[in-house]
Amino acid sequence: MRKPIIAANWKMNKTLSEAVAFVETIKDRLPSAETVDAVICAPAVFLDALVKETRDGQIAIGAQNMYFEDNGAFTGEISPVMLKDLGVKYVIIGHSERRSLFGESDADVNKKMRAAFTHGLVPILCVGETLEQRESGQTEALVEKQVTEALKGLTKKEAASTVIAYEPIWAIGTGKTASAQDANAVCAHIRQTVGHLYDENTADTIRIQYGGSVKPGNIRELLSESDIDGALVGGASLDPTSFLQLLEASQS
Ligand code: 13P
Repeated sequence: MRKPIIAANWKMNKTLSEAVAFVETIKDRLPSAETVDAVICAPAVFLDALVKETRDGQIAIGAQNMYFEDNGAFTGEISPVMLKDLGVKYVIIGHSERRSLFGESDADVNKKMRAAFTHGLVPILCVGETLEQRESGQTEALVEKQVTEALKGLTKKEAASTVIAYEPIWAIGTGKTASAQDANAVCAHIRQTVGHLYDENTADTIRIQYGGSVKPGNIRELLSESDIDGALVGGASLDPTSFLQLLEASQS
């Protein structure tokens, strides 16, 4: 049985005091950590404060991106060593906004995946198609390629502990959600791909989230599907009440 994992992706939102106030509001009202994993992926400048704020609690803190080198002349970048040192647990890798706005390639994504595991961070690997790719029937081939490239060189154990987020680009921030059945079909295809790359046990273990306009009102239906193990949530994760509702609705 895979434990559900709900991750907030705050993107470039909130100030430090708002971020801390959010965590203070929810931290004593969370469902048991035995039933659902709660993650907040915050802007890098809040990570230190949020790790301290959540110490000994049930919320894990994640970054939204990182570079793949340990250190050096990479102005403006943040390394996995820095994230690990702060006590950050997760890192989103290859979000479609990074791929489309900042030119991240599958090869970059793979380097970041390897760097995450080298430094003991859990990657939340994002994959997903544009509307044009969906309408021309390329979805399955595309996510298969993204997953295959991203996992290259990772061990079975690393692959099994990766979290994959299937986020159709046309559903992000648009209010359009993939139907639970369509989302599940792609998540099942991703799981099958992991099975072909590794083995059945790895495929059964890996957790696959759906992302794209997830809200308290649609999360139950999505999570009732066989291959959806959680959600990566943007807009609806910015409000503490709504984030708590998402966690409550997700308990296994
Ligand atoms: P929304 O939930 O705002 O559609 O964002 C999804 C997303 O991109 C999470 O990473």
